[in-house]
Amino acid sequence: MNYRHAFHAGNFADVHKHMVLLSVLQRLQLKETPISVLDTHAGAGVYDLSADPSQRTSEWRDGIGRVYVETRAPAVVSSLLITVRALNADPHKPPRIYPGSPRLIAAHMRQQDRVQLCELEPNTLSDLRDSMRGLPNVAIHARDGWEALGALLPPREIKRGLVLIDPPFEAPNELQRLTDALITTHTRWPQGVLLGWYPIKDRPMVDRFLRKLARAGMPDTLVCELCIHAPDNQLRLNGSGLVIINAPWQVDETLREATAWLHERMQQSPDAPWRVTALGDEA
Ligand SMILES: C[S@@+](CC[C@H](N)C(=O)[O-])C[C@H]1O[C@@H](n2cnc3c(N)ncnc32)[C@H](O)[C@@H]1O
Repeated sequence: MNYRHAFHAGNFADVHKHMVLLSVLQRLQLKETPISVLDTHAGAGVYDLSADPSQRTSEWRDGIGRVYVETRAPAVVSSLLITVRALNADPHKPPRIYPGSPRLIAAHMRQQDRVQLCELEPNTLSDLRDSMRGLPNVAIHARDGWEALGALLPPREIKRGLVLIDPPFEAPNELQRLTDALITTHTRWPQGVLLGWYPIKDRPMVDRFLRKLARAGMPDTLVCELCIHAPDNQLRLNGSGLVIINAPWQVDETLREATAWLHERMQQSPDAPWRVTALGDEA
C-alpha cells in the first residue's frame, strides 16, 4: 500500500465527497432513530495542510482553499465549512487542518449514533487513533475495509445507517471491486444507504462501471459527479464521483444546489461537467 491521502487532503474531490457524505448524513438524521455509519477506508482522521505532503502538492488550494472563507454557501456546504473552521484557530487565515471523513462524521454524530472506522496502513491507523481519541461512540478497526463489509454488516443493533466506501484506487481492479461490494452489501443490508466514491479519469471505464451497477437494479440510486477538467486526459483526476444507493428522499435537490455551487468555484476548464442524476438516466 503506497497510497497516502495526506497528499490529496482538502482537494476538490475531498470537498465534493465530504459534501455528499454530509448531505446524506443530515437527511438520515431528520429522524430521531439512531444511525450507524461504517467508513471502510477511513484514512488518518485529520490532515495538517502545512505539513510536507500537502505543501508538496498544494492540491488543497484548489479545493477547500477556494471556498473556505465563503459565508453565503448552500446550507450543506456551510455545515462542512463550519466543521472545518472549528478545527482551525483563526477562521480568517487559510485553513491548516482539514478533517478526513472520520472526523467529519464524528463531528455530526448524535448521542444515539455509532461510527465504525476501518484502516489498514499502520502509520495512518496510528494517526487515526490519535485524531479520534476521546470522541464518543467511535470504534476503530485495524482491518480490511472490504472484508469488514461482510463481517460488520448488516449492523446488529442499529439497523438504519450508511456506509462510505472510499478506496485508494491503487489497484487496477478497484472499480470492479467497488461494483461487487456495492451489489453484495445491498443484498446483505437492503435498507442501508451505500456511498461509493470513484475517480473520474477514464470516462468510458466509469460509464461501464455505472452500466453494471444499473443492471443490478438497486433502488433509488443517484450519481453525483463534479469535474474540474474536461474528462479527456486519463492521467489526471478530472473529476470526483459518488454513487448513492437508497439515496434518502430529496437529497438529490441538496446535492444539485451544492454541486453546482462548488463547480462554479472549482472548475478549471469551461468544458468540465457536473451532474446529479438517477442511475440509468445519466447518458
Ligand atoms: C482515499 S483514502 C480515505 C480517505 C477518507 N475516507 C477521507 O475521506 O478522509 C483511502 C484509505 O484507505 C486505506 N486502505 C487501503 N486499503 C485498505 C483496505 N483494504 N482496508 C482498509 N483501509 C485501506 C489507505 O491506507 C487510505 O488511508
